[in-house]
Amino acid sequence: MSNSMYGRSILDLTEMTQAEFLSVIKLATEIKANPNEYRHALSGKILAMIFEKNSTRTRVSFEAGIIQLGGQAIVLDSKSTQMGRGEPIKDTAKVMSGYVDGIMIRTYSDTMVAELATEASIPVINGLTDNHHPCQILADFLTIYEVKGKLKGIKLAYVGAGNNMAHSFLIGGSLVGMDISIATPTGYEPKQEIIDIAEQNALQSGSKIELINDPERAVADADVVVTDVWASMGEESQQLEREKLFAAYQINSELVSKAKDDYLFLHCLPAHRGEEVTSNVIDGTHSKIYQEAENRLHAQKALMVKLMKDS
Ligand code: CP
Ligand code: NVA
Repeated sequence: MSNSMYGRSILDLTEMTQAEFLSVIKLATEIKANPNEYRHALSGKILAMIFEKNSTRTRVSFEAGIIQLGGQAIVLDSKSTQMGRGEPIKDTAKVMSGYVDGIMIRTYSDTMVAELATEASIPVINGLTDNHHPCQILADFLTIYEVKGKLKGIKLAYVGAGNNMAHSFLIGGSLVGMDISIATPTGYEPKQEIIDIAEQNALQSGSKIELINDPERAVADADVVVTDVWASMGEESQQLEREKLFAAYQINSELVSKAKDDYLFLHCLPAHRGEEVTSNVIDGTHSKIYQEAENRLHAQKALMVKLMKDS
């Protein structure tokens, strides 16, 4: 069977059709159930991993994933490469394309990653940028699918900052027909260009997209309740200011009492207990954060097979 995603880059979820997105989720469930059947799937392939921001899950799950598929990883801290001394992205992309079979990058600038993907002749995977975190959405939607048995028609409430996670929930949710309700403080809404993409997707998928400032309204009757840190990597200087501004957006027992009785709590992690979520919610029975984190491994293995395996 031909693989339509072979050789492509995934910088954000606009680069997948609904069918392609669902095919990655389906392959992830197969790989999770039968990992041994895929242990040679990427035999001899090498993934370079470039980090300009910290990571635990992305670093370990991508490296473990490529090893489990029969390949190998080379992990680079961008500061210790010539990129860190200002070597042009174009030269880096062309040189790396001659050595390895794929690049996973975690950095700040989406423009830089786009240039890397344009200039490289191998797939580039976004492992988090200021505006997107597509691999996390693959893992989150795999988790929702495992627990709820479907994606279409699920109501997902995201309460917090209109950041990379909010953006990726908007694009991914609207791609698969989820209803996405996002509550942020005024001034911290998702970017309008991302909202426009989600509204356009929703015309096809039937999603309902809601952008509001009221967390209770967002969480009302939600199947899935999600949050993220109030200050993302690169925004550390705003931490104290945001702790005050976001206090009413904490996910706590009172807020989740508005969700469905069998709601599911997700958080991409790392989390700040007592800030964006209380311990009794994140460590409670509705929380699936560790299943979600494990699913980074399975979802990314599926993505790498789709992008890096030629048959
Ligand atoms: N969720 C996530 O991307 O975790 P890391 O920052 O640890 O990679
Ligand atoms: N929004 C967070 C996600 C961390 C995985 C950040 O960008 O820091």
